[in-house]
Amino acid sequence: MQIIHTIPELRAALAQSRNPAFVPTMGNLHDGHLALVRQARPLGDTLVASIFVNRLQFLPHEDFDSYPRTLQVDADKLRAAGCDVLFAPSEQDLYPEPQTFKVQPDPQLADILEGQFRPGFFTGVCTVVMKLFSAVFAGKAQGTALFGQKDYQQLMVLRRMVQQFALPLDIVAGTTQRADDGLALSSRNGYLSEAERQEAVQLSLALRALARDAVAAAHTLPAQREALEARALQALTGRGWQPDYLTVRRRSDLQPPQAGDALVVLGAARLGRTRLIDNLEV
Ligand code: PAF
Repeated sequence: MQIIHTIPELRAALAQSRNPAFVPTMGNLHDGHLALVRQARPLGDTLVASIFVNRLQFLPHEDFDSYPRTLQVDADKLRAAGCDVLFAPSEQDLYPEPQTFKVQPDPQLADILEGQFRPGFFTGVCTVVMKLFSAVFAGKAQGTALFGQKDYQQLMVLRRMVQQFALPLDIVAGTTQRADDGLALSSRNGYLSEAERQEAVQLSLALRALARDAVAAAHTLPAQREALEARALQALTGRGWQPDYLTVRRRSDLQPPQAGDALVVLGAARLGRTRLIDNLEV
Protein backbone atom coordinates (compact mmCIF):
# COMPACT_ATOMS: atom_id res chain seq x y z
CA MET A 1 0.00 0.00 0.00
CA GLN A 2 1.34 3.42 -0.97
CA ILE A 3 0.95 6.23 1.57
CA ILE A 4 0.63 9.59 -0.14
CA HIS A 5 0.33 13.08 1.28
CA THR A 6 -0.10 15.53 -1.61
CA ILE A 7 -2.63 15.89 -4.42
CA PRO A 8 -0.01 15.88 -7.23
CA GLU A 9 1.53 12.66 -5.86
CA LEU A 10 -1.92 11.09 -5.56
CA ARG A 11 -2.81 11.99 -9.15
CA ALA A 12 0.50 10.53 -10.33
CA ALA A 13 -0.11 7.31 -8.37
CA LEU A 14 -3.59 6.99 -9.91
CA ALA A 15 -2.53 7.90 -13.46
CA GLN A 16 -3.08 4.35 -14.75
CA SER A 17 -6.31 3.76 -12.83
CA ARG A 18 -9.48 3.91 -14.93
CA ASN A 19 -12.09 3.61 -12.18
CA PRO A 20 -10.86 4.04 -8.62
CA ALA A 21 -13.00 2.96 -5.66
CA PHE A 22 -12.66 5.48 -2.85
CA VAL A 23 -13.42 5.41 0.90
CA PRO A 24 -13.02 8.86 2.52
CA THR A 25 -12.57 8.82 6.32
CA MET A 26 -11.36 10.94 9.19
CA GLY A 27 -9.29 8.04 10.52
CA ASN A 28 -9.35 6.25 13.88
CA LEU A 29 -10.69 3.37 11.86
CA HIS A 30 -13.10 0.80 13.28
CA ASP A 31 -14.79 -2.26 11.78
CA GLY A 32 -17.40 -0.06 10.10
CA HIS A 33 -14.70 1.66 8.04
CA LEU A 34 -12.97 -1.65 7.30
CA ALA A 35 -16.25 -3.20 6.13
CA LEU A 36 -16.56 -0.26 3.68
CA VAL A 37 -13.02 -0.89 2.45
CA ARG A 38 -13.75 -4.59 1.88
CA GLN A 39 -17.02 -3.66 0.14
CA ALA A 40 -15.08 -1.25 -2.10
CA ARG A 41 -12.46 -3.82 -3.18
CA PRO A 42 -14.36 -5.27 -6.19
CA LEU A 43 -15.87 -1.92 -7.22
CA GLY A 44 -12.81 -0.39 -8.86
CA ASP A 45 -9.41 -1.21 -10.30
CA THR A 46 -7.61 0.68 -7.52
CA LEU A 47 -8.77 0.97 -3.91
CA VAL A 48 -8.07 4.36 -2.33
CA ALA A 49 -8.83 5.43 1.25
CA SER A 50 -8.25 8.87 2.70
CA ILE A 51 -7.66 9.99 6.25
CA PHE A 52 -8.14 13.68 6.93
CA VAL A 53 -9.69 15.34 9.97
CA ASN A 54 -11.48 18.18 8.25
CA ARG A 55 -11.48 21.38 10.31
CA LEU A 56 -14.20 22.89 8.08
CA GLN A 57 -16.89 20.53 9.39
CA PHE A 58 -16.31 21.22 13.10
CA LEU A 59 -17.86 24.09 15.06
CA PRO A 60 -15.45 26.05 17.29
CA HIS A 61 -16.65 24.30 20.49
CA GLU A 62 -16.51 20.80 18.94
CA ASP A 63 -13.84 18.10 19.16
CA PHE A 64 -11.56 19.00 16.24
CA ASP A 65 -8.44 19.24 18.45
CA SER A 66 -9.18 16.10 20.46
CA TYR A 67 -10.42 13.99 17.52
CA PRO A 68 -8.27 10.82 17.70
CA ARG A 69 -5.43 10.80 15.17
CA THR A 70 -4.03 7.27 14.86
CA LEU A 71 -2.41 7.25 11.43
CA GLN A 72 0.09 4.42 11.96
CA VAL A 73 -2.47 1.95 13.34
CA ASP A 74 -4.98 3.00 10.68
CA ALA A 75 -2.44 2.44 7.89
CA ASP A 76 -1.77 -1.10 9.19
CA LYS A 77 -5.50 -1.86 9.23
CA LEU A 78 -5.99 -0.51 5.70
CA ARG A 79 -3.05 -2.49 4.38
CA ALA A 80 -4.47 -5.67 5.93
CA ALA A 81 -7.91 -4.90 4.43
CA GLY A 82 -6.46 -4.74 0.91
CA CYS A 83 -6.23 -0.98 0.34
CA ASP A 84 -3.85 0.05 -2.49
CA VAL A 85 -3.38 3.74 -1.76
CA LEU A 86 -3.80 5.72 1.45
CA PHE A 87 -4.13 9.46 0.91
CA ALA A 88 -3.30 11.20 4.20
CA PRO A 89 -2.76 14.89 3.51
CA SER A 90 -1.80 17.42 6.17
CA GLU A 91 -3.94 20.55 6.53
CA GLN A 92 -1.24 22.43 4.62
CA ASP A 93 -1.45 19.85 1.80
CA LEU A 94 -5.23 20.02 1.45
CA TYR A 95 -5.81 23.65 2.41
CA PRO A 96 -2.57 25.45 1.43
CA GLU A 97 -4.55 28.69 1.52
CA PRO A 98 -7.84 29.43 3.33
CA GLN A 99 -10.60 27.48 1.57
CA THR A 100 -12.77 30.47 0.66
CA PHE A 101 -14.61 28.71 -2.19
CA LYS A 102 -17.10 26.30 -0.64
CA VAL A 103 -19.83 23.91 -1.70
CA GLN A 104 -23.13 25.12 -0.28
CA PRO A 105 -25.67 22.29 -0.13
CA ASP A 106 -29.41 22.81 -0.47
CA PRO A 107 -30.60 24.25 2.88
CA GLN A 108 -33.87 22.27 2.62
CA LEU A 109 -31.81 19.13 3.17
CA ALA A 110 -28.66 20.41 4.87
CA ASP A 111 -30.05 22.87 7.43
CA ILE A 112 -32.31 20.37 9.18
CA LEU A 113 -31.44 17.66 11.75
CA GLU A 114 -27.61 17.55 11.88
CA GLY A 115 -27.43 20.88 10.06
CA GLN A 116 -29.74 22.53 12.58
CA PHE A 117 -27.59 21.48 15.52
CA ARG A 118 -24.24 21.75 13.71
CA PRO A 119 -24.65 24.80 11.44
CA GLY A 120 -22.24 24.74 8.52
CA PHE A 121 -21.43 21.05 9.04
CA PHE A 122 -22.59 19.93 5.61
CA THR A 123 -20.90 22.86 3.86
CA GLY A 124 -17.67 21.64 5.46
CA VAL A 125 -18.37 18.03 4.49
CA CYS A 126 -19.35 18.84 0.89
CA THR A 127 -16.36 21.15 0.42
CA VAL A 128 -13.79 18.60 1.57
CA VAL A 129 -15.47 15.70 -0.24
CA MET A 130 -15.60 17.71 -3.49
CA LYS A 131 -11.89 18.47 -3.07
CA LEU A 132 -11.08 14.82 -2.31
CA PHE A 133 -13.17 13.73 -5.31
CA SER A 134 -11.20 16.17 -7.47
CA ALA A 135 -7.93 14.72 -6.13
CA VAL A 136 -8.96 11.08 -6.70
CA PHE A 137 -11.26 11.14 -9.72
CA ALA A 138 -10.22 14.09 -11.95
CA GLY A 139 -9.87 12.81 -15.51
CA LYS A 140 -11.49 9.43 -14.75
CA ALA A 141 -14.47 8.35 -16.82
CA GLN A 142 -16.04 6.60 -13.85
CA GLY A 143 -15.49 5.99 -10.15
CA THR A 144 -17.16 4.80 -6.99
CA ALA A 145 -17.17 6.39 -3.53
CA LEU A 146 -18.45 4.65 -0.43
CA PHE A 147 -19.98 6.17 2.71
CA GLY A 148 -21.50 4.56 5.79
CA GLN A 149 -25.24 4.62 6.31
CA LYS A 150 -24.78 5.57 9.97
CA ASP A 151 -24.32 9.11 8.67
CA TYR A 152 -27.67 8.88 6.88
CA GLN A 153 -28.16 12.57 6.17
CA GLN A 154 -24.52 12.99 5.06
CA LEU A 155 -24.97 10.14 2.59
CA MET A 156 -28.10 11.79 1.21
CA VAL A 157 -26.47 15.23 0.94
CA LEU A 158 -23.47 13.76 -0.89
CA ARG A 159 -25.67 11.78 -3.27
CA ARG A 160 -27.48 15.01 -4.17
CA MET A 161 -24.18 16.84 -4.61
CA VAL A 162 -22.95 14.19 -7.04
CA GLN A 163 -26.26 14.31 -8.91
CA GLN A 164 -26.46 18.11 -9.13
CA PHE A 165 -22.86 18.53 -10.28
CA ALA A 166 -23.23 15.55 -12.67
CA LEU A 167 -20.07 13.97 -11.28
CA PRO A 168 -19.34 10.66 -13.07
CA LEU A 169 -19.46 8.73 -9.82
CA ASP A 170 -21.51 6.05 -8.15
CA ILE A 171 -22.14 6.61 -4.47
CA VAL A 172 -22.46 3.31 -2.63
CA ALA A 173 -23.77 2.98 0.94
CA GLY A 174 -22.31 0.64 3.53
CA THR A 175 -24.66 -0.77 6.16
CA THR A 176 -24.12 0.41 9.72
CA GLN A 177 -21.85 -1.95 11.66
CA ARG A 178 -22.88 -2.51 15.28
CA ALA A 179 -21.27 -3.82 18.45
CA ASP A 180 -22.78 -7.00 19.96
CA ASP A 181 -25.20 -4.96 22.10
CA GLY A 182 -26.40 -2.96 19.07
CA LEU A 183 -24.42 0.27 19.50
CA ALA A 184 -23.52 1.69 16.07
CA LEU A 185 -19.75 1.71 15.60
CA SER A 186 -18.28 5.22 15.63
CA SER A 187 -14.88 6.74 16.26
CA ARG A 188 -16.53 8.87 18.94
CA ASN A 189 -17.47 5.74 20.96
CA GLY A 190 -13.86 5.89 22.15
CA TYR A 191 -14.75 8.98 24.22
CA LEU A 192 -17.24 6.99 26.36
CA SER A 193 -16.41 5.98 29.92
CA GLU A 194 -17.12 2.36 30.84
CA ALA A 195 -20.46 3.29 32.41
CA GLU A 196 -21.39 5.46 29.42
CA ARG A 197 -20.46 2.63 27.06
CA GLN A 198 -22.98 0.37 28.85
CA GLU A 199 -25.62 3.08 28.53
CA ALA A 200 -24.84 4.08 24.94
CA VAL A 201 -26.98 1.35 23.32
CA GLN A 202 -30.06 3.15 24.67
CA LEU A 203 -29.94 5.53 21.69
CA SER A 204 -30.52 2.70 19.22
CA LEU A 205 -33.13 1.17 21.56
CA ALA A 206 -34.97 4.49 21.70
CA LEU A 207 -34.93 4.66 17.90
CA ARG A 208 -36.23 1.10 17.66
CA ALA A 209 -39.08 1.96 20.01
CA LEU A 210 -39.85 5.09 18.00
CA ALA A 211 -39.83 3.04 14.79
CA ARG A 212 -42.28 0.55 16.32
CA ASP A 213 -44.56 3.40 17.45
CA ALA A 214 -44.42 4.97 13.98
CA VAL A 215 -45.41 1.71 12.33
CA ALA A 216 -48.26 1.20 14.80
CA ALA A 217 -49.49 4.75 14.09
CA ALA A 218 -49.01 4.43 10.31
CA HIS A 219 -52.43 5.79 9.28
CA THR A 220 -52.39 8.80 11.60
CA LEU A 221 -48.67 9.43 11.68
CA PRO A 222 -48.68 13.12 10.60
CA ALA A 223 -50.96 13.95 13.53
CA GLN A 224 -49.20 11.75 16.06
CA ARG A 225 -45.57 12.15 15.07
CA GLU A 226 -44.65 14.97 17.43
CA ALA A 227 -46.18 13.19 20.43
CA LEU A 228 -44.28 9.99 19.60
CA GLU A 229 -41.05 11.93 19.21
CA ALA A 230 -41.62 13.74 22.50
CA ARG A 231 -42.04 10.38 24.24
CA ALA A 232 -38.80 9.08 22.76
CA LEU A 233 -36.94 12.27 23.75
CA GLN A 234 -38.35 11.99 27.26
CA ALA A 235 -37.19 8.36 27.56
CA LEU A 236 -33.58 9.35 26.85
CA THR A 237 -33.69 12.58 28.87
CA GLY A 238 -34.95 10.58 31.85
CA ARG A 239 -31.81 8.43 31.65
CA GLY A 240 -29.50 11.46 31.75
CA TRP A 241 -28.99 12.01 28.02
CA GLN A 242 -29.22 15.39 26.30
CA PRO A 243 -30.91 14.58 22.99
CA ASP A 244 -30.75 17.01 20.05
CA TYR A 245 -33.45 15.18 18.08
CA LEU A 246 -35.21 11.83 17.76
CA THR A 247 -37.47 12.00 14.79
CA VAL A 248 -39.49 10.12 12.19
CA ARG A 249 -38.87 11.34 8.63
CA ARG A 250 -39.66 10.22 5.15
CA ARG A 251 -36.70 8.57 3.48
CA SER A 252 -36.90 10.46 0.20
CA ASP A 253 -36.04 13.95 1.55
CA LEU A 254 -35.95 13.75 5.37
CA GLN A 255 -39.04 15.95 5.67
CA PRO A 256 -41.92 15.09 8.06
CA PRO A 257 -43.79 12.15 6.54
CA GLN A 258 -47.25 11.82 5.10
CA ALA A 259 -49.20 8.58 5.62
CA GLY A 260 -47.80 5.88 3.34
CA ASP A 261 -44.28 7.33 2.97
CA ALA A 262 -41.26 5.06 3.44
CA LEU A 263 -39.79 6.06 6.79
CA VAL A 264 -36.49 6.43 8.59
CA VAL A 265 -36.02 7.31 12.26
CA LEU A 266 -32.97 9.38 13.10
CA GLY A 267 -31.48 10.50 16.38
CA ALA A 268 -28.62 12.50 17.86
CA ALA A 269 -27.97 12.79 21.57
CA ARG A 270 -25.20 13.68 23.95
CA LEU A 271 -24.14 11.26 26.67
CA GLY A 272 -21.74 13.13 28.95
CA ARG A 273 -19.37 14.90 26.56
CA THR A 274 -19.96 12.45 23.68
CA ARG A 275 -22.43 13.19 20.91
CA LEU A 276 -23.74 10.03 19.22
CA ILE A 277 -25.95 9.65 16.15
CA ASP A 278 -27.84 6.68 14.78
CA ASN A 279 -30.75 5.85 12.46
CA LEU A 280 -32.97 3.01 11.39
CA GLU A 281 -34.95 2.57 8.18
CA VAL A 282 -38.45 1.44 9.07
O1 PAF B 1 -17.95 10.72 7.54
C1 PAF B 1 -16.80 11.19 7.67
O2 PAF B 1 -15.89 10.56 8.22
C2 PAF B 1 -16.51 12.59 7.15
O3 PAF B 1 -17.62 13.42 7.29
C3 PAF B 1 -16.00 12.60 5.71
C4 PAF B 1 -17.04 12.10 4.73
C5 PAF B 1 -14.74 11.75 5.60
C6 PAF B 1 -15.64 14.04 5.28
O4 PAF B 1 -14.68 14.59 6.12
